[in-house]
Amino acid sequence: MKIIFASHNQKKTEEIRSMLPIHINLLNLHDLGQTEVIPEEEPTIEGNSAFKAKWVFEKFGLPCFADDTGLEVLALGGAPGVHSARYAGENRSDEANMQKLQENLKPFEDRSAQFKTVITYCAAGFFEQFTGLVKGEIATEAKGNKGFGYDPIFCPEGLGRTFAEMELAEKNQYSHRARAFSQLIDFLSKQ
Ligand code: IMP
Repeated sequence: MKIIFASHNQKKTEEIRSMLPIHINLLNLHDLGQTEVIPEEEPTIEGNSAFKAKWVFEKFGLPCFADDTGLEVLALGGAPGVHSARYAGENRSDEANMQKLQENLKPFEDRSAQFKTVITYCAAGFFEQFTGLVKGEIATEAKGNKGFGYDPIFCPEGLGRTFAEMELAEKNQYSHRARAFSQLIDFLSKQ
């Protein structure tokens, strides 16, 4: 069974490939020679995830899935949320994004936050969404050098360490993305 992952990201693709049942042949946009960037302009994480999956399904007519992730900070009304990648502007710097978040959070005592990943699966007659969440809080200072994005300032609940202080295998035990993907894999295994 051929499935397309609506992404150009080779690292993410490899990670997902290693989790999939053997009968699934996972291809990403790079494998298909598709260089066009899919617009990510929807106002919600769910909307962006759905848009990307539908865009690929309309183009290739093969079963496909897309993911979209955001960090939602309670005191900031859910920001940066769907704007997580470009919170501090178009230059996409993790450092600048974290700095802006820390500045905006200064007046608040409540530092609770969650990561959310929404995966959308599209195939003929199918439209399914799977959500993975991890609750935690924003640390007052960055710690650790592993991972990416907001990992150095996100502490999953009850662990007392940031994601950036964990090896990938440990992060995957709790992460939003791993939780959403395990639901997708469960679903695909039953197809
Ligand atoms: P994407 O939808 O997976 O591209 O994620 C959007 C943005 O959310 C990324 O550019 C990161 O800033 C942030 N992000 C997503 N996943 C993670 C994560 O596991 N750790 C830290 N930041 C993340």
